[in-house]
Amino acid sequence: MRGSCCFFFNRRTEQRFRLLAISTVKSARRINLLLCFCIALTLLLLLLLLAAANSSTTANRSRPHPRFPLSRKGYSIVMNTWKRYDLLKQSITHYSSCPRLESVHIVWSEPDPPSDFLIKFLNHAIESESTDGRHVKLKFDINMEDSLNNRFKEVKDLETDAVFSIDDDVIFPCSSVEFAFDVWQSAPDTMVGFVPRVHWLDSSEGDGNKFRYGGWWSVWWTGTYSMVLSKAAFFHKKYFSLYTNEMPASIREYVTTNRNCEDIAMSFLVANATDAPPIWVKGKIFEIGSTGISSLGGHSERRTECVNKFTAVYGRMPLVSTSVKAVDSRNIWFW
Ligand SMILES: *[C@@H]1O[C@H](CO)[C@@H](O)[C@H](O)[C@H]1NC(C)=O
Repeated sequence: MRGSCCFFFNRRTEQRFRLLAISTVKSARRINLLLCFCIALTLLLLLLLLAAANSSTTANRSRPHPRFPLSRKGYSIVMNTWKRYDLLKQSITHYSSCPRLESVHIVWSEPDPPSDFLIKFLNHAIESESTDGRHVKLKFDINMEDSLNNRFKEVKDLETDAVFSIDDDVIFPCSSVEFAFDVWQSAPDTMVGFVPRVHWLDSSEGDGNKFRYGGWWSVWWTGTYSMVLSKAAFFHKKYFSLYTNEMPASIREYVTTNRNCEDIAMSFLVANATDAPPIWVKGKIFEIGSTGISSLGGHSERRTECVNKFTAVYGRMPLVSTSVKAVDSRNIWFW
């Protein structure tokens, strides 16, 4: 009984083992099949992805005309400089690495032309900084006469509509410049800049149409501005020809004689043409030169005089105040 039982038991277990063995072989085969299937599926997916990526890039490449031709173009830097070659070298070297920069025009008003050494140095700096096959062009615009109006003379063969007007003693990181360029592209008639200034009606003057010019602290205190200075601003190149050919000559003469206020004149010109305020863009400023005339005493008196003089020429106050500020939303943590 015991033996048969055992035998029986043994046979059954043996059978069971055999069955189990067969089933594991079967399931192993099934797993192999499944694996093959998975690999095949993955390969297929990869192929499909590659094909899709390929077709999308060729579609981009073969698209005959961009829908917005303007947005594919970059901007040109027009830099005002005066006998500060170290600053000039430093800032040109810096801006050469900005991705959408197409050309650099240096407004030269010194009695002596730029030295070969300087030209060679700047060309070399531009070449070594401009990466990914870009070729940034460098041009000197030599002026015979020394006038602050030179910075707004029409630039020959300017290929871009967008001009970034900048002094040689302030540096903005490329990310700030390119962000300001984006803002300008959505409002190409407007002046878009980093340095806001304000004017307001002077209530202490009796007749009620005298204005005062306010510097940075006024803007900071009120959060309001009506100008952005051309020491760091984007605008359309058409304003060069308006400034030089259409703006009343008395304003240009005033600027030359007083050696001041060409930036206020440009703000008046754009405001008169657009009936709209400029746009102030948040950006990091690095001042590399010693502080200029703006920190000297009596500066704001002279600026106030310019505002009132130009208002008289226009026959009205064209400047429009605003408190809008453009900020890169990627840099804001809380909405
Ligand atoms: C101001 O703009 C108007 C309209 O565009 C133009 O006719 C006028 O000549 C401009 N004024 C000055 C002083 O440029």
